[in-house]
Amino acid sequence: NVDTAHAVLVADAMSDDGLSPLLNKENFEVVRAKPSERDDLNRFSALLVRSSTQVDAALLAQMPNLKIVARAGVGTDNIDLDAATKHGVIIINAPDGNTISTAEHTFAMMMSLCRNIPQAYSSVKAHEWNRKAFQGTELRGKTLGIVGFGRIGSELAKRAAAFQMPVVVYDPFLTAERAKKVGVTLLSFEELLEAADVITVHTPLTKETKNLFNEENLNKTKPGVFILNCARGGIIDEQALQTAIENGHVAGAALDVFEHEPATNYSLIDLPQVIVTPHIAASTVEAQESVATQVAEEVISVLEGAPAAHS
Ligand code: MLT
Repeated sequence: NVDTAHAVLVADAMSDDGLSPLLNKENFEVVRAKPSERDDLNRFSALLVRSSTQVDAALLAQMPNLKIVARAGVGTDNIDLDAATKHGVIIINAPDGNTISTAEHTFAMMMSLCRNIPQAYSSVKAHEWNRKAFQGTELRGKTLGIVGFGRIGSELAKRAAAFQMPVVVYDPFLTAERAKKVGVTLLSFEELLEAADVITVHTPLTKETKNLFNEENLNKTKPGVFILNCARGGIIDEQALQTAIENGHVAGAALDVFEHEPATNYSLIDLPQVIVTPHIAASTVEAQESVATQVAEEVISVLEGAPAAHS
């Protein structure tokens, strides 16, 4: 019965297997399209996104029947939460489906950064053989500073322990007791900046974390520090990072996320000490299936009248 069908708009790329609870559900119609491609936005009651679609006040105004926006991932910074609340729209996310993938990608980036793997790869692929140009740094004994000790930060610490890296953590929500229990040292932000050889951020982008790594804070880090961001663009001020690399204070950076995506900040990207990936930390078969299933199941239950679990 078309009258009772719930129309669901899937605006960003999402796993078919993961969405199968929705795709196979009677009375649910699933449309995959960008909002700009549709002139019938008013009939959708659910909108599923990753990070590409900006769910802003203008889009919400075109969707008067919308009940729920589901983020197949963790960060909801591409969704205007105030506007959604004003329209009475529920926001949900998939808080733990991509934790392991993101921690693993961060680790891969850290190893690549410290051993110049992308640079060495490009050199050999360009038919060079230069064994002197790519001397790296061992991870063993280097202090890893994790800013934000939620799900991803905690998983990273477990992996760092296997590499014999002491871990220091800054997280205003972490107690010293819990830090001790999991074998990490809780520090203030300033102390972490001074102590860490490698710093990685795992916080959401908020008013407090926007440009957390600005010129002033980057200057407080150890000379020769490596910096990683596989969390959200905007936590590290890209101009300040570029300057700190150019003046030799920061030895290198690994970035999966950027202030503006698709990223075009080539004065930073093109620096040889900067290694980059296009926001793919969560892009694994496992994570994509898991986040899509989590949001698909929750969209069904919310549209069928149950309260949201991850709002
Ligand atoms: C997230 O917030 O979970 C990530 O950005 C995932 C993604 O959309 O790739």
